[in-house]
Amino acid sequence: MTRVFDEDLTSGFGTRAIHAGQRPEPLAGAIMTPVYLTSTYVQEGLGQNKGYEYARGKNPTREAFERNIASLENGRHGFAFSSGMGCLDSIMKLFRSGDHIVCGENVYGGTFRLFDKLLQNYGLTFAYVDTRDPQRIADAMTPATRAVLVETPTNPLMRVTDIAAAADIAHRGGALLIVDNTFASPFFQRPLELGADIVYHSTTKYLNGHSDMIGGCAVCIDDGIAGQLQFIHNAAGAVAGPFDAWLALRGTKTLHLRMRQHDLNGREIAKWLVERVGHENVFYIGLPTHPQHDLVRRQMSGFGGMISVELGTRERAAHVLERVRVFSLAESLGGVESLISQPAGMTHASVPPERRAAIGLTEGLIRLSCGVEDVGDLLADLEQAFAGLGKRDAANGKVKVRDTIGSASP
Ligand SMILES: Cc1ncc(COP(=O)(O)O)c(C=O)c1O
Repeated sequence: MTRVFDEDLTSGFGTRAIHAGQRPEPLAGAIMTPVYLTSTYVQEGLGQNKGYEYARGKNPTREAFERNIASLENGRHGFAFSSGMGCLDSIMKLFRSGDHIVCGENVYGGTFRLFDKLLQNYGLTFAYVDTRDPQRIADAMTPATRAVLVETPTNPLMRVTDIAAAADIAHRGGALLIVDNTFASPFFQRPLELGADIVYHSTTKYLNGHSDMIGGCAVCIDDGIAGQLQFIHNAAGAVAGPFDAWLALRGTKTLHLRMRQHDLNGREIAKWLVERVGHENVFYIGLPTHPQHDLVRRQMSGFGGMISVELGTRERAAHVLERVRVFSLAESLGGVESLISQPAGMTHASVPPERRAAIGLTEGLIRLSCGVEDVGDLLADLEQAFAGLGKRDAANGKVKVRDTIGSASP
């Protein structure tokens, strides 16, 4: 299984981003890791090879990315998958029929769909709880609980889970803590340092950062968990292709630079939105009015570029979404270009309407993935897209957004 180079764990984040996991290629000294486009490797004799036999098991380009992301998450073992969902599906193969998982009630729609529409059929059971309240996690644990799975901050409501508290509760119950770190990226949050057992990403988002591939990755410290993941990786086969691994590796080289700019742009845009629609309608973890801002400051080192805004009705959401020119109306997030979407009808359409309503994921909610363009242009774009919605009362659709900690699970 792929293990970080220990010497890569001594440098700062930016140095790791650029160099970790990569060594000059031995044939010509190419400074960039080659894309090893091969399915198999010639063997010198029976049982004799250079450590590579068949590319589902190992590929040098993939290994470089796996070592790189393992180092960025301050972990030991990395695994690159064909997508974020392929990654999560493989992680879930650590469990077996009868096992119980405690899962955050607001997770990416595809995560809920995987659990609810597929994995339930294989005998796994799930409890969906508001993981902002650690007591809710503790109350949901049963003797069969094998994992607590949280996304923090959540997509799209920007709710935050106390990772250290969740790890403590999971471990006391003999379960693993699994964290989806896609929104924060390791630049702003490193769950393994806070006690998580497995951290995973949709590499498609901030890690790659250029919206030109689909991928997933998982990182852990424990050799035993890594051994099991390695077995699943090869046996189930949802591995990243070499070119996608190479794109992700090129992406992480600028992760620290991009995240700083996403963060700066996110703060400016959130400030503008607060003036426009009121702080109670802007979901951004960098706002001092965010109900969990203190926790955010404790466990993260920045806020990033993800913002959700409650506009009250689907029509008002459409007004903005259909007028933007620099932002693009599209699913996904985390790329250098700014995107805007309506989660209820797009990324979270697979979550049943009553469940969406119960957590406050309304038809009037829009989500902005603030890119790294000139912030003046982004603000001007929003200004013209919001024109006609009215100032201050822009969110006057009659939807009451419920954002109190401890909302009941449906
Ligand atoms: C938070 C989060 N986790 C996981 C995924 C799934 O990743 P992928 O689309 O790469 O399969 C997504 C996709 O949007 C996501 O937003």
